[in-house]
Amino acid sequence: GNGAHVPVLIIGTGYGGSVAALRLAQAGVPVHMVEMGMAWDTPGPDGKIFANTRTPDYRSYWLRTRTKQPIVNFLGFPLDKDVPRYTGILDAEDFGEILVYQGRGVGGGSLVNGGMAVTPKRARFSSVLPSVNAAEMYDVYYPRANAELGVNEIDVSWFDSTPAYQYSRVGRKHAQRSNFDFLYVPNVYDFDYMEQEAAGTVPKSALAAEILYGNNHGKKSLQQTYLARAKATGLVTISALHRVTSVSPASGGGYTVVIEQLDTTGGVTATKTVTADRVFFAAGSVGTSKLLVRMRATGKLPNLSGEVGKGWGDNGNVMCGRANHLWDPTGALQSSIPTAGIDNWDDGGAFAEVAPIPTGIETWASFYLSITDTPHRAEFTWNAAAGRVELNWQASWKQVSIDRAKSIFDKINRKEGTIYRTDLFGIYKIWGDHLTYHPLGGAVLGKATDNYGRLHGYPGLYAIDGSLIPGNTTVNPFVTITALAERNIEKIIATDL
Ligand code: FDA
Repeated sequence: GNGAHVPVLIIGTGYGGSVAALRLAQAGVPVHMVEMGMAWDTPGPDGKIFANTRTPDYRSYWLRTRTKQPIVNFLGFPLDKDVPRYTGILDAEDFGEILVYQGRGVGGGSLVNGGMAVTPKRARFSSVLPSVNAAEMYDVYYPRANAELGVNEIDVSWFDSTPAYQYSRVGRKHAQRSNFDFLYVPNVYDFDYMEQEAAGTVPKSALAAEILYGNNHGKKSLQQTYLARAKATGLVTISALHRVTSVSPASGGGYTVVIEQLDTTGGVTATKTVTADRVFFAAGSVGTSKLLVRMRATGKLPNLSGEVGKGWGDNGNVMCGRANHLWDPTGALQSSIPTAGIDNWDDGGAFAEVAPIPTGIETWASFYLSITDTPHRAEFTWNAAAGRVELNWQASWKQVSIDRAKSIFDKINRKEGTIYRTDLFGIYKIWGDHLTYHPLGGAVLGKATDNYGRLHGYPGLYAIDGSLIPGNTTVNPFVTITALAERNIEKIIATDL
């Protein structure tokens, strides 16, 4: 409540925040978590908590009146439609030259993401987090993160036989015929559950096109893993629909945190002030960066490092589709959970996920999300006149990522005698290069913070989310965000508390 004092306040309930909450509570420290999105624990009028990807509704988007679907067009038909403005689950945050997709709600990105749980190849780790001891990460923290997140792998014999992964088998065949490394990608979606979906013995989720706006079954989001265990300690409370707007030193020590309570149209219904001995910024790369940059510029936290706001990257995300021959159908039934990848990082700087298009009809399309090695990094800055934080990303910077993704798909197209799809991202537009799902950086480890996420200039303030990672993880990021948070919180508990 208003005027309260808490030992630890955590801003955000995604991966970094959930790891911090569990470990602090296990160490006996009471924790209060503040989350701007909804709790996502109550069914809507259709009896379901989450909306289906094929039928977006009021639950799907964060304070938008029209959907902003990643695939904007299909066979010439625009897909977006009007929806009531609501504190929905997926935020397509527009920074002018890039759309940054993020999860909103208790569980953060784990509510909306594809669940792909990928540990980077160890040889590439020094490029991801140069100041972190790789041996510790691969011996202790990556295994710990994978175990706690409930990461599992698909049974390859089932993969080989189920109609739901026909699209992935076509992806595998084309990758292998062009001599690329093909790999099965682990996931936090329970593959045993998915096999039961296929057998018709349980309610369907992955096999009913649920993904982007939440999964009603099968997926282990943070609500089922870290956050469930954190709540079970009895020491963790979570305020949903509460947004932190300010953090500044309190006169008696600790920090004053200003929090707005929201209604489901985004309106502010109350403003509360609490004090906290320690504050963990776990609002995601964008959320943490925006708060810190604004606090520094507006005199609330003037001593934050000049590095705050810098080192932001898009993990080189770029999407594309390929048009297959009639003898290569990808299937009307497509599991919404991707479980296949093509690794051409060492030769071409690209790692491509074989992704579903779960439309329910045969499309003869292969669809891919590539993660690429791009040198471009943007910076968040405060625009005082406009009263907002801006990001100086340039749309043209995606060309590097397109070129790297082409190292895979031009070769496959040549080998197969196929072409790119031109209908998915606009009319005659091949590349989905207007967005990222993987924002990283803005409070980079060892620059804006020390080597464990302690923010320079303010004892008791920490960054513990994707903002610590300087722009690229070579693969999908949440396992690395989780493992780094495990490493950092262990050190912080041992030495600061
Ligand atoms: P995260 O974004 O998870 O959590 C931050 C939380 O803070 C949010 O809940 C937010 O609402 C809240 N918040 C922000 N500002 C606040 C404020 N001022 N006050 C209160 N709360 C605030 N990764 C992967 O590894 N495999 C995958 O398959 C995918 N797929 C994927 C698909 C889609 C559609 C998206 C959008 C993302 C992915 N990702 C992914 C990316 C992954 O989800 C992402 O990297 C992590 O969720 C980031 O974790 P963090 O802990 O950094 O923040």
